[in-house]
Amino acid sequence: MLKKVATLAELKDYACVTVDGKELALFRLNGNIYCLDNTCTHRGGPLCEGSVTNSTITCPWHASQFDIKTGKVKRGPAMKDVKTYKVTVKNDSIYLEV
Ligand code: FES
Repeated sequence: MLKKVATLAELKDYACVTVDGKELALFRLNGNIYCLDNTCTHRGGPLCEGSVTNSTITCPWHASQFDIKTGKVKRGPAMKDVKTYKVTVKNDSIYLEV
């Protein structure tokens, strides 16, 4: 089911959103929008408060790194990939499949 979570104008480089009680992180990379679980798979750090370098998000708590496009771990201590969500952009609005 598609849920509208933001408009393109509201999303700068990244944003935290809550959908059905689930905390998610949205990122804009080279004009494309990506969505990950906001919760780091190491100890639950908030990824939307981390720092973005190219297509990598670094967790603000212990510096695990994840690929924003795939959710794959690029550097520990996290061992488990973070879940990604399909993003659809329609009429300047961002929808997630949740
Ligand atoms: S909680 Fe993210 S690296 Fe530890």
